[in-house]
Order: sequence, then C-alpha cells, then structure tokens
Amino acid sequence: MPFALSPERERKLQEILERYPTKMAVTLPLLHLCQEQAGYVSDEIVEFVSKRLDLSPAHVKGVVTFYTLYNQHPVGKHQVWVCRTLPCALRGAYEVIEHCEKRLGIKCGETTADGKITLRTAECLASCGTAPMMQVDRDYHENLTRERVDQILARLQGG
Ligand code: FES
Repeated sequence: MPFALSPERERKLQEILERYPTKMAVTLPLLHLCQEQAGYVSDEIVEFVSKRLDLSPAHVKGVVTFYTLYNQHPVGKHQVWVCRTLPCALRGAYEVIEHCEKRLGIKCGETTADGKITLRTAECLASCGTAPMMQVDRDYHENLTRERVDQILARLQGG
C-alpha cells in the first residue's frame, strides 16, 4: 500500500501549505511529518513527498541525504545523539560516547537488538555552555556525568 499521512498529519500539512509561499518551501516540514509517522524516510516517502509538492524525487532525495536529522533507514524507538564537537569533546564527550556504547552493546550509528535505542554522534547542538550534552528524542540532557547517562539510558531501556 502506498504511503499516506494519517488524517491528523494531513490536516497539519494543509495548515502548513497555507502558510508557506511555495510548495517547495514545505519540503522540510512535510518530511518531518512523514518521519514522525514512519520513523524514517523510505523511498516510498520520497515518492509521496515529490508527488504532493510537485518536485522531482531526485530533489527530495537530495534534501533527505543532506540533513542528518532525516533517517534513511529504520531506527530505534528512541534516538540518542551525543554531541562531539570541541567544547563537548573538551568536557568529556568521548567518554560519554564510549560509556553509551559499552552500556548499550552497540557502536555509534547502530540500534540496540530490542529496537529501543539508536545511538549517534552529533555536531554542535548549540548547548556548549552546558557541555557535555546529548539530545534524546526532542529533549536536551546537559552537564552529563556517567551517573546521569546511566539514569537516562536506564529509563529508555525500560520504556
Ligand atoms: S559543542 Fe556540544 S553543544 Fe556545542
């Protein structure tokens, strides 16, 4: 069955289309809506977006591959992004990454076997003053310590 937005997301899309000056400008928000629903942007979704916005599939695919926030493959229920840029690196980001990898039994870029957590690194997430930090789904966790990381991951593993 071809991809279709849920009725609620279809309503959101209509609101967005009315607010934006061109259909092309709706590419990013529509991709977000699709990813919210499906978890990642499949080729089927690229096709859907290109048809809805009168764009070529190559243009939409180019957008998806340019922005790291779009998942090109299935991912875990929760996304953990550990910032590794210099301010975070100077304050222990690589220890945080190593600790996450050990605790979860995966490397960055991988998903736990139970499908709960995908671990990734990120470039500066604009929270350098509270380094080291990570983003879990939509929430920031700052001034990380090993204990704090354990608490966060335990919550995700339990949920
Ligand atoms: S360097 Fe990590 S938030 Fe800026």
